[in-house]
Amino acid sequence: MSVFPIEKFKSIETPFYYYDTELLENTLRRAQEEAAKYEGLHIHYAIKANFNHRLLQIINAAGMGADCVSGGEVKAALAAGIPAGKIVFAGVGKTEKEIAASLDAGIFCFNAESLPEAELINELAAARGMVANIAIRVNPGVGAHTHANITTGLAENKFGINYELLDETIDAIERLKNISLIGLHFHIGSQILEMQDFATLCERINEIQDKLEQRGMVLPHLNVGGGLGIDYNTPDTNCIPDFAAYFATYAENLKRRPGQQIHFELGRSIVAQCGSLITRVTYIKQGTCKKFAIVDAGMNDLVRPALYQAYHEIDNLTSQAECETYDIVGPICESSDVFAKERKLPATKRGDILAIRSAGAYGEAMAFGYNCRELPKAYLSNEL
Ligand code: LLP
Repeated sequence: MSVFPIEKFKSIETPFYYYDTELLENTLRRAQEEAAKYEGLHIHYAIKANFNHRLLQIINAAGMGADCVSGGEVKAALAAGIPAGKIVFAGVGKTEKEIAASLDAGIFCFNAESLPEAELINELAAARGMVANIAIRVNPGVGAHTHANITTGLAENKFGINYELLDETIDAIERLKNISLIGLHFHIGSQILEMQDFATLCERINEIQDKLEQRGMVLPHLNVGGGLGIDYNTPDTNCIPDFAAYFATYAENLKRRPGQQIHFELGRSIVAQCGSLITRVTYIKQGTCKKFAIVDAGMNDLVRPALYQAYHEIDNLTSQAECETYDIVGPICESSDVFAKERKLPATKRGDILAIRSAGAYGEAMAFGYNCRELPKAYLSNEL
């Protein structure tokens, strides 16, 4: 089991997020080292996974850029010290205000998801006497072995420009004088553990690059998105994702053109395992056919189980008794406010402290205030 400062936790009001900064730093180091084994690979941390300011500062110190999907995320990246020149900005619905602010900040590249968006970027860049870098986000029509809500690369998804329409989109974009097409952008989904899915994406990118070359076009940048999954079942034995296999898959399968730079947008694989949601047991309630452990964290603090039926390991940090079976539920007035069903935990009582594990990605970032609840606080191990 991870080492938690349980004595310190006892005096802190729950629920709260706890981040193990040593694990975050080790994860960042491993990711950067594995990427550095190849020429021209760049990681832009996907801020949507967790925009906690202090974590962003650590991620910036490790030299990663940022992948943003809103003006707010661009601001958060800049506030943490991430250089504008390492920021990419994706999203299907960028507003005029968000684009203007990002142009003014001088971000590296917009991942444009439609022709009307490229036209607006062009217009706003022209008004500033600038030429903006864009990559076209291509919907590659590649599925991924993951939850249907978090697959993004299929024709039915709203993201990107269908690869069959790429040629005519490029024709139209080439007529726009205040944008410079520097690359293509892809992202097939999240929590992907089968390297073959990324290899399939590479094959599709190879086909697209061959077609572009026929029209005399070689682009200097490829952005392949993020999506590397983590081990939610055994977070202690497998606390750092297999970055070596991930980058090797791209290195072996992608036919890079000379000097072509490859960009990655990793979110979950960087921050998921370093974070836990720490919660206290408010009551143990005997139902007709099961026992409930009612905790003081709710789906508003960590929505993944309710939204995606996501599995998170749960440890009781204050009991080593024989295991019993519980449904672990929150206090919110929704039947879906359940963290785990029929889960074995050491016999648990009111006041026990539980850690809901692997919650560093899409946990705190997706928290909300339903039922007039306060947003969860966060503590870093190096601050406690
Ligand atoms: N790039 C783009 C364009 C994305 O849409 C995403 C995630 C990423 C990068 C980062 O993907 P990652 O490396 O984290 O897999 N809330 C869901 C996950 C939503 C992912 C959205 N896009 C969850 O809790 O599982």
